[in-house]
Amino acid sequence: MSVSERTYIMVKPDGVQRGLVGDIISRFERRGFKLIALKFVHASPEHLEKHYADLKGKPFFPGLIKYMASGPVVGMVWQGLDAVKTGRVMLGATNPLASAPGTIRGDFALAVGRNICHGSDSVDNAEKEIQLWFPEGIVQYTNDNEKWIF
Ligand code: TYD
Repeated sequence: MSVSERTYIMVKPDGVQRGLVGDIISRFERRGFKLIALKFVHASPEHLEKHYADLKGKPFFPGLIKYMASGPVVGMVWQGLDAVKTGRVMLGATNPLASAPGTIRGDFALAVGRNICHGSDSVDNAEKEIQLWFPEGIVQYTNDNEKWIF
């Protein structure tokens, strides 16, 4: 756990189509996390197969890649205390039917194959996913509210 912990959060194609990008960003902002990268991208199946490499061989893998490649996604990096674990709590369980109300999936989704968003499940995977989706690197900046709010 560290204040500089980073996690990769992605609004999936259904979340983009349903206009939930702003709500999801807002939840992470209001919680206190710092947005350090943001990208709108229509990913290729090859790229998504790398992202989900651990799941290759699962029966739902082909459908998962098709769904994820069906439209643009919003990839983000959020930084803050315990960002990986807290991000997962904010997303809710993988199967939305088991997700608590108040979580993103618990508020907006019903089906595991249409579960709105992705969040890294470990610090190691977060760093791998950040490298995969933001190979150009991350802009670092300091929050300095007093400069902007009088
Ligand atoms: P997984 O990494 O197990 O879950 P999470 O996204 O919560 O880290 O699975 C990746 C995605 O694969 C999941 O978000 C939705 C899809 N999926 C299915 O379509 N069917 C399934 O039975 C499972 C376990 C996952």
